[in-house]
Amino acid sequence: MTVEMALENITAEIKNNVLVLTINRPDKLNALNKQTIEELHEALVEAENNKEVHALIITGSGNKAFVAGADIAEFSNFSVEEGKQLSSIGHFKIFNFIENYSKPVIAAVNGFALGGGLELAMACHIRVASNNAKMGLPEVSLGVIPGYGGTQRLAQLVGKGKAFEMIVTADMIVAEDAFKWGLVNYVTTPEELLNKCFEITSKIASKSPVAIKTAIKVINAGYNSKLNGYEVEIEEFGKSFGTADFREGVDAFLEKRKAKFPGN
Ligand code: COA
Repeated sequence: MTVEMALENITAEIKNNVLVLTINRPDKLNALNKQTIEELHEALVEAENNKEVHALIITGSGNKAFVAGADIAEFSNFSVEEGKQLSSIGHFKIFNFIENYSKPVIAAVNGFALGGGLELAMACHIRVASNNAKMGLPEVSLGVIPGYGGTQRLAQLVGKGKAFEMIVTADMIVAEDAFKWGLVNYVTTPEELLNKCFEITSKIASKSPVAIKTAIKVINAGYNSKLNGYEVEIEEFGKSFGTADFREGVDAFLEKRKAKFPGN
């Protein structure tokens, strides 16, 4: 990763083998416009092939918002076809892309996570929220529905009943409720938010990158109606035995030393 990528709306910094991507449009509460989507995609593609990067953290700049949604001004005059494009490009470049990413991605939810912002957090593998965070899918207030995977991922995370309630009322929930409902893994103070994320990534860093990539693939397979998660698990479990990471992990255990995974 060229750490100083020429990006306008996001900053990218590698720290302790973790790429921290900060969405940086604080005066628009980090709303996701087309350019931000493109830049995020570009950074994700670069980091995928960078062996120095073991995990990613995505957060928002400032102390008010993670991301306050898709950029409403930008789509205000869209046609039916443009609306469909907006959704499908977003799915392809960011939301499905992150969900199926080969390295764990953590959302550090540091304030409002609304609409596309909550959808971004939900596409990540793990969510940590600061206690001032507010989350919701308010799209029906604008006469649209969540279009970046929210109708599907919210129900997967909090169950269908709570998802119906949040989407049809457009209500925001506070971080503590999000924790109780399983929408976020942890709640911290704003000051501790990134530290908590780094605590999680430090555990990831010592594990097998190949096994982690495979685990992400297999967990997601269970949520893909075209696949049988158990069958994918059997297949991928078998394949693990052919990797250099398996050799190293098992040898290290038997030799009572710390594994140094080659990552293949
Ligand atoms: N798209 C575009 N601009 C946005 C935005 C969005 N999703 N969310 C906030 N902004 C902009 C505001 O227009 C404002 O810009 P301005 O200063 O140029 O007028 C700026 O960010 C600050 O927002 P503001 O509404 O003044 O802050 P607030 O503290 O009064 O309210 C929110 C905060 C989050 C409650 C409010 O901004 C909001 O409801 N945003 C839209 C949330 C939403 O519906 N998201 C889903 C979109 S599909």
